[in-house]
Amino acid sequence: MFKNLVDWIDARIPMTRVYNMHMAQYPAPKNMNFWYVFGFLATIVLVNQIVTGIWLTMSYEPSAAGAFASVEYIMRDVEYGWIIRYMHSTGASAFFVVVYLHMFRGMMYGSYQKPRELLWLFGMFIYLALMAEAFMGYLLPWGQMSYWGAQVIIGLFGTIPVIGEDLALWIRGDYVVSGATLNRFFALHVIALPLIIVILVFLHIVALHEVGSNNPDGVDVKRPKGSLSDDEKTKFEFHEYYTSKKDLLDDVVPFFPHMVLKDLMAFGVFIFFFCYVMFFNPDMYGKFIEHPNFEMANNLKTPEHVFPVWYFTPFYAILKAVPNPFGGVVAMFGAIIMLALLPWIDRGKVRSWRYRCGLHKWNLIIFAIVFVILGYLGGTPGTPFKEMISKVFTVMYFGFFVLLWLYSKNEKTKPLPERITK
Ligand code: HEM
Repeated sequence: MFKNLVDWIDARIPMTRVYNMHMAQYPAPKNMNFWYVFGFLATIVLVNQIVTGIWLTMSYEPSAAGAFASVEYIMRDVEYGWIIRYMHSTGASAFFVVVYLHMFRGMMYGSYQKPRELLWLFGMFIYLALMAEAFMGYLLPWGQMSYWGAQVIIGLFGTIPVIGEDLALWIRGDYVVSGATLNRFFALHVIALPLIIVILVFLHIVALHEVGSNNPDGVDVKRPKGSLSDDEKTKFEFHEYYTSKKDLLDDVVPFFPHMVLKDLMAFGVFIFFFCYVMFFNPDMYGKFIEHPNFEMANNLKTPEHVFPVWYFTPFYAILKAVPNPFGGVVAMFGAIIMLALLPWIDRGKVRSWRYRCGLHKWNLIIFAIVFVILGYLGGTPGTPFKEMISKVFTVMYFGFFVLLWLYSKNEKTKPLPERITK
């Protein structure tokens, strides 16, 4: 009966074919290592955010008078409300942990290089949408940090010459952050941005499957997809090819079961850490939920220090490192744009850092360290010494891209293997 149902559907929409081509039999390079699990984990976290978000919305009240109390109500009175809220708040930070690792993997193995530029750009759009989503979500509990964080960040738009003040007013819908701001952020956070993120993730995967996955060696794999005729593609049967054209398939394995098992194992490890935070340390020492946010927003009382949540702090440090406020905003957005332009800044012919020059390896490692230190500097109270260090590290952040552009043109690389290694 089940087969009949599947056949009936298949005769009307390509369900089994799409499932096989894009999931079960997707040809995955067999040397994919643990760095390749973060895309899957990001997808899991995305689902978690959407599902828990829907549940939270059922009891949340998007008004300046009721928001804070409704979150308390969720935490204390709604059945399992506390667990749903902590799954959502922990999920927000987990999202950025896995996405940062996912991006770093792309940088190590040159996954942004030709022909994956568009894939990378979709990723960067996801990243931007994710930052907007997280920023707007953080206003919703209407705590002290929600309020003052939004005040500071929206205020940044006010530094843009000529249009700045009007733009900030337009974003807030008021002269200060108020219930009007909360209402629009709620609408964008629960409907508009999740929709945009889901569409972008879909395009991200479409772009990936069109060109195929890169791998830790960064060399093209011999895989069946490119060598199939249209007719063969229609009845893409992995196991048939495995027996008939084995040499073509040496480099790839079907996604199911090989990669599914790897991903499931990663999921097991991930869920362990996730549950530790969720059950034992949901505010993560004030890093995931900042302590002033346990107090209701008060527009007459500014917290002693206003910091964004940890995932924004590297860019916040760059913002503060530039003395001129508008210059700071330009540097902050410039820092993100630089990442988006990587496929064109890097003029190297070899993808993976395994086969690139020593300078490249060090450049990338130092970049990652600089990013983490900027994150620390942007999330702790400033001192004159820290301000000076922030300036140095901001220059180093941009230096990574300048150096890459310079040495990648005529880089001395190691010989590439014919086929992927292990
Ligand atoms: C919601 C966020 C995201 C989700 C759900 C997501 C999902 C995925 C998945 C499932 C894969 C295939 C598995 C893997 O290679 O790990 C992938 C690959 C990839 N993603 Fe993402 N991604 C996200 C964000 C990003 C961001 C922010 C970037 C970078 C700007 C990015 C760049 C890439 C690249 C370059 C690949 C191909 C890697 C390779 O083949 O070596 N992704 N993504």
